[in-house]
Amino acid sequence: MQGNGRWHATVVTKTAVYPGSFDPLTFGHLDVIERSARLFDRVIVAILTNPQKAALFTVDERIGLIKEVLKPRLPNVEVDVFHGLLVDYANKKKAQVIVRGIRAISDYEYEFQMALMNRRLAPDLETVFMVPAENYSYLSSRLVKEIAELGGSVTGLVPDIVEERLKQRFKRKS
Ligand code: PNS
Repeated sequence: MQGNGRWHATVVTKTAVYPGSFDPLTFGHLDVIERSARLFDRVIVAILTNPQKAALFTVDERIGLIKEVLKPRLPNVEVDVFHGLLVDYANKKKAQVIVRGIRAISDYEYEFQMALMNRRLAPDLETVFMVPAENYSYLSSRLVKEIAELGGSVTGLVPDIVEERLKQRFKRKS
């Protein structure tokens, strides 16, 4: 409150980081991104570069796919890459929030552990769990890759461009 008795608004931009592997982006991820974009002023989809973890798509390919899907909408969403500790990245980006999607109870233990560990490292950074639409509750990038590799249909699970890229990738391998 100001000295003259009037409230004065302080404009605080709420920035959220949505980290993950996104190998590849699914409709479950997209659902969480859309929900976050409605809640926060700025959302950064942050792809972890992890040389220890073998990925199907390179980081550049993953960025390209996400940007392509988000291009026509969601002007407050950015796509970026990070390595090292997530809390350091969030701090560098001046983010107040980490967003994670929780699909089922089975996700909870790992997410709970990560959220508390991140809080220990950065007490001011809040983790917000988002629940994706129920029809995506069984969806994961791992299963999508497995189905695509074995020739099954991933229609309705990933955006068209991702489905196309998966087909190309596995056609080339077989
Ligand atoms: O999509 P994923 O693989 O479930 O995402 C996991 C991710 C990227 C959120 C997590 O591995 C991570 O934050 N890695 C960065 C390193 C780090 O900060 N580790 C400590 C976590 S408590």
